[in-house]
Amino acid sequence: MDKIQINGGRRLTGEVTISGAKNAALPLIASSILVNGKSTFTNVPKLMDIVSIKKLLEDLGAGCTFENSTLTVDGAGIHKIEAEYELVRKMRASILVLGPLVARFGHAKVSMPGGCAIGARPVNMHLSGLEALGATISMDHGYIEAKADRLIGNDIYFDIPTVTGTENLMMAAVLAKGASTLRNAAREPEIVCLADALTQMGAKISGAGTPIISIEGVDHLTPASVNVIPDRIEAGTFMVAAAATRGDVVVKGCIPDHIGGIISKLKATGATIEIAGNQVRVKGSDIIKSVDIKTQPYPGFPTDMQAQFMALMTIANGNSTIHESIFENRFIHANELLRMGADISISNGNYAMVRGKDRLQAAPVMASDLRASASLVIAGLIAEGTTLISRVYHMDRGYEGIEKKFSSLGADIRRIQ
Ligand code: EPU
Repeated sequence: MDKIQINGGRRLTGEVTISGAKNAALPLIASSILVNGKSTFTNVPKLMDIVSIKKLLEDLGAGCTFENSTLTVDGAGIHKIEAEYELVRKMRASILVLGPLVARFGHAKVSMPGGCAIGARPVNMHLSGLEALGATISMDHGYIEAKADRLIGNDIYFDIPTVTGTENLMMAAVLAKGASTLRNAAREPEIVCLADALTQMGAKISGAGTPIISIEGVDHLTPASVNVIPDRIEAGTFMVAAAATRGDVVVKGCIPDHIGGIISKLKATGATIEIAGNQVRVKGSDIIKSVDIKTQPYPGFPTDMQAQFMALMTIANGNSTIHESIFENRFIHANELLRMGADISISNGNYAMVRGKDRLQAAPVMASDLRASASLVIAGLIAEGTTLISRVYHMDRGYEGIEKKFSSLGADIRRIQ
């Protein structure tokens, strides 16, 4: 299995270009199930999660090609409505095929995603939403089965904003008969990207990006060509790495408006941020001020940036409190950071107190999930000595060519086998 080796201590300098967003691409690709024709997606990142959803769609019968960041999916060939365990277990986001399959074919069977390193991650709101649209849901031997002659529009209220839940229900409601309203919907930019794509396909949606999304169902959708938005979490990861190494990095091809929370918190650490069009320059400060964060649904500080920010706070001047409010078990990286000499204590499961130190020391560490792996890379970049990160397959699920991008910024980082 591949490992990442980092000789720490180098300032990052230069320019890096951000790839398309994994979490925007996945629902877009799932939306092609709704269409009896060929959908085209550009700026698709080359990642394991994309390979996983492509395999899943091919297994359903779709014809897919993926070349030079362009993925085409021909939904005309779909003849199977069952997403099998072997494919779903590789990626929880496979649940995104449930809404579109039942909307187009009136029947879907999707392996129930299991727990995950960062939390239990139930899908109850996806299922109760589909029931509200008239689907009959049953569970059988680890599979969720949803059936409906035709979905019927309805009011759906989410107890808490759920990103993939909102996406699944949007994709279901666009082909339902009549009007639907999604209340307390997630507002992430990825939701807006999906709504824009569905609108291009002929769907009638308003309010995406706000907590209330209104959808008027249509009888069918037509193929569209959609560009994936830049990955705001990849952008944030490079920005935090720039601040942590006291570097000077221009992050190109991002949408600064999508990373407002991260920019504010980085400014509070003393970093200088310059925004010009689609690029953000981060100049790290010699003295990194400690800053408290609380993860929240968009536009709050993203849970997907919590681990990376914690790595930065390990070398801040002072103490910072990190409150993870989205997932119940998203501090596994803290134990690995402790092995690198960080001073972190966790209380009540969801609060971390990080007491800043002058430096971290390199150590062999293990990635436990995608964003934890990015946090360990940042820690390796600032630590004294050679850090070896194992289980980097987690990182390959969501960061395109990360070691090449960091190398181009002057990091001493390589993949070893
Ligand atoms: N939740 C429920 N019931 C549900 C759905 C969610 O209780 O039916 C809870 C979750 O357990 C969690 C909260 O609601 O406590 C929010 O979870 P959400 O459903 O929004 O998460 P998700 O849709 O499964 C997406 C991203 C995650 C990201 C979260 C939060 C994709 C494919 N995944 O997950 O991304 O952390 O939103 O922003 O979009 C990552 O990229 O590393 C990643 C984990």
